[in-house]
Amino acid sequence: MNSELNGKVALVTGGGSGIGAACVRQLVARGASVVVADISVENATLVAKEYGDQAVAVEADVARAEDAERIVEVAVTHFGGLDIAVNNAGVGVPVRAAVGETSDEEWRRVLDINLDGAFFCMRAQLPRMGKGGSVVNLASVMGAVAAEGASSYVASKHALVGLTKAAALDYAAAGIRVNAVGAGFVDTPLLAGRDTEWIAAVAAAHPLGRLAQPDEIASVVTFLASPAASFVTGAYLPVDGGYLAR
Ligand SMILES: NC(=O)c1ccc[n+]([C@@H]2O[C@H](COP(=O)([O-])OP(=O)(O)OC[C@H]3O[C@@H](n4cnc5c(N)ncnc54)[C@H](O)[C@@H]3O)[C@@H](O)[C@H]2O)c1
Repeated sequence: MNSELNGKVALVTGGGSGIGAACVRQLVARGASVVVADISVENATLVAKEYGDQAVAVEADVARAEDAERIVEVAVTHFGGLDIAVNNAGVGVPVRAAVGETSDEEWRRVLDINLDGAFFCMRAQLPRMGKGGSVVNLASVMGAVAAEGASSYVASKHALVGLTKAAALDYAAAGIRVNAVGAGFVDTPLLAGRDTEWIAAVAAAHPLGRLAQPDEIASVVTFLASPAASFVTGAYLPVDGGYLAR
């Protein structure tokens, strides 16, 4: 077993499903103890209980600043500190709509969770990390390009890339790295309900000709979190099957 993260304490938001659950699995496999935070405590608990003493579940809504603080407190009180944070909790757009047809409600919900949530989390996490700390934010290819009918999501992920770079500069002198992953489309519950035609078209937009599996994103997140990426900060790293190369 790879033990490069032995003794490290990590937290993963949205750790109850999809990419987040894969990140928890890979961080634990490398020896980290992990706080699994999710708005769905049922899912967080299901994931955490697979790993015994190495993981703990916590119910948290990242769109609430006090919850973002509480997740960090759980890491400190339960495992003794915080070394790695994966800010992964996020939502997609429920209905595709042009800017002119986007409701206040949808705009606020997506920005509250995908952008404000990541800000609240980093604001709570970064001052509690020491030298060698690492933050990885789950952006998307939609952090670099757009898709029709998804303005709130596209805006949230572009802003998250900017926020990542700003935080990387603010904490570089402290020896804390902050990076973002630009995931292509991934086979997770986030895409549930999409019709097969849409999925096929999206798969074809990736030169590798398919969606990613959650573990293919989590392996890069885990790399960025690890000492192997010790000179990587402020990066936006596409993990996208070639999507952005076109
Ligand atoms: N699936 C994709 O195609 C894709 C592509 C690029 C980027 N991403 C990003 O990856 C991240 C994870 O997505 P996923 O595909 O694994 O989705 P998912 O729906 O499988 O998992 C998201 C998790 O976040 C949790 N969550 C949602 N709102 C929350 C909140 N307010 N507070 C705490 N937890 C909350 C959900 O309960 C869920 O467990 C998201 O940020 C998403 O934007 C996904």
